[in-house]
Amino acid sequence: MTSPSFSRRGDISSFLAMDVMREANMLQQSGQDICHLEVGQPSTKAPQVVLDAARHALDHELIGYTDALGLDALRQALSAYYQTTYKVDIAPERFVITTGSSSGFIIAFLACLDAGQKVAVTTPGYPAYTNIIQSLDLTPVTIPLSHENNWTLTVDDVQAAEKAYGPIDALLLASPANPTGTMLGKQALTDLSHDCHRAGRWFFSDEIYHGLTYAHDATSALQVGDHDGLIVMNSFSKYFSMTGWRIGWMIVPPKMVRAVERLQQNLFISAPTLSQYAACAALSPAAGTELQKHVQLYHHNRDKLLACLRDNGIDNIAPADGAFYLYADLRSLSPTP
Ligand SMILES: Cc1ncc(COP(=O)(O)O)c(C=O)c1O
Repeated sequence: MTSPSFSRRGDISSFLAMDVMREANMLQQSGQDICHLEVGQPSTKAPQVVLDAARHALDHELIGYTDALGLDALRQALSAYYQTTYKVDIAPERFVITTGSSSGFIIAFLACLDAGQKVAVTTPGYPAYTNIIQSLDLTPVTIPLSHENNWTLTVDDVQAAEKAYGPIDALLLASPANPTGTMLGKQALTDLSHDCHRAGRWFFSDEIYHGLTYAHDATSALQVGDHDGLIVMNSFSKYFSMTGWRIGWMIVPPKMVRAVERLQQNLFISAPTLSQYAACAALSPAAGTELQKHVQLYHHNRDKLLACLRDNGIDNIAPADGAFYLYADLRSLSPTP
């Protein structure tokens, strides 16, 4: 008797932070007092209007499937949000509502890339990127970031990676970034986006930490030049404090909408409907007022933590201008070299 073998694609590394969260949850269930720092999620609740909208939808709406690309009202609201927040005109038809940005990556990669093609990501970077890329039979190219460049990517880094590994088909990048919290300046983002456009390389701009910024507002890749190879990924998980609602969105070039719709129809049918109703309320001015208070709280926590670390001799820290992470060099405190 021989057992069938598992696929090579499924043989990816675990998402270690999720493994740690499972362990921590088990300890908590056994009665231990746990302070959760393992996964990147807000300590705050979704805004009150979001909770109210979800309750209203439960009472009044049929929570059935929605159109694969999402509720029309949510896509309209997102389009208006981009006008107010970034001063860019993006047609509602280009918004695709996803099950968190995590499902957006799957759909976008399947729509844009064939097996074996190369996707560049940075190290340090969001660890799931490489694992998602590998599970789709794509090839990750990891580009190391340096302290000298403030832990941000440059066009030179991308070109050096192409010299070493051959042409890169896509670049996936978050700003503000996980785990450093560092942000690309407007010029650096422009240079990277234009270089991708010039090279015919897809540019996936992960803007999930927009809104959680402490020095200046984050620039959307859409503000520095909308082009046919640009896909913006985003989510209600972080700034909107809705991690568990599993709801996000992406903005795709017009010519890609139908391919993405077909993939969404077949792979996910549609994003969670209750969360879509709630997300409409998350974009309202009332939610914005509450969310700004969250940002003040994170800002306060960040300043406190930075001061505390510095007082304890830990001062080699990446300039965390956004998100809710600090990337600090602790090697001097480590027993191993
Ligand atoms: C940079 C980045 N992108 C994407 C995600 C996935 O978020 P979600 O699927 O909740 O939208 C995370 C989660 O931590 C992240 O840090």
